[in-house]
Formats: sequence, structure tokens, C-alpha cells
Amino acid sequence: MNIPTSVPTAAEKRALYAQARQRIGTLVAGEPDRLARMAGIVAVLHGLLPHFYWTGFYRVSGGSLVIGPYQGTPGCGRIGWGRGVCGSAWATGQSQLVADVHAFPGHIACDARSASEVVLPARDACGRVVAVLDVDGLVTGAFDEVDREELEAILASWGEV
Ligand code: SME
Repeated sequence: MNIPTSVPTAAEKRALYAQARQRIGTLVAGEPDRLARMAGIVAVLHGLLPHFYWTGFYRVSGGSLVIGPYQGTPGCGRIGWGRGVCGSAWATGQSQLVADVHAFPGHIACDARSASEVVLPARDACGRVVAVLDVDGLVTGAFDEVDREELEAILASWGEV
């Protein structure tokens, strides 16, 4: 499990994400099963990025977000439409970059140690949001525009097999 005590610099993040993109490409290339691709993406990101404390997908299923592949401490099982940071990413279709989760109205605290968070919608080939990728950090402001941009780029191509 990552115990992130420090956050990489922007240049370090770029280098780590470049490695992650390469490994994810190798791991999920040609894999048609979406759940398998999610599991691979989560494992690579969580293993490489030292500021990732909790890394996982929630899938849109039966009108809720339902926990999918993740790494970290036990996550909340279901999240409703518009609820918390994840539900907001789903409802708005926009990435949510939250420097201080305690300042986010309605934040859902699955693990009280989470201090900051970035959540990104993951779309299918038709543009529908089918999941969100949620990453939590242990320190305030662990994530910035570099994380948002890099993770959006990974998710933009995640549907390609
Ligand atoms: N904090 C999230 C809930 C998911 S956990 O962080 C794993 C939220 O407010 O949506």
C-alpha cells in the first residue's frame, strides 16, 4: 500500500505518467474486457505514482456508482447520482480536482485519512460516462493540473483496444 508522505514535483509527475502510459498500453492492449482494463490501469497507476493513497474506479450500474477495481483501503460500495466528489464527476461529466476534501460540500469520507482527491469521468466510445476514476491523496493539494491532464489523457484512450 502506498503511504505517500511527499508529492512529486511537476516534472517528476510527468516522467512517472509517461512510464504509466507505456505500461498501461502494454498491459491493456487488445484486452476487450472493460473490467480487466480498469484493473490494469489502477494497478499501474497505484504502483507507480507515490502520491496515490487510494486509486480506483466506480462503475455506473443500476443508477448508482458501484465500486470497481481499486487499490488501497476498503472503499465505499455505492455512491448516488451527484453525491460526493465522485457523484459530482458523474453528474456533471467534468473532472473534479479537490485540494481539500473537507472544504468540498458533501464529500464522502470512506477513509478519514484522505485529504485531497481527483475524480475523472471515464466515457465509452459513444461518449457516455460509464465510470469514474477516483484518486485520493494523504496530503492537502496532492493533485494539480498535471494529474488532471495526464489522467484525462489516459482515460481518453482507455476505451481503445
Ligand atoms: N471521497 C469520495 C468517495 C470515494 S472514496 O474516496 C474511495 C467522494 O466524495 O465521492
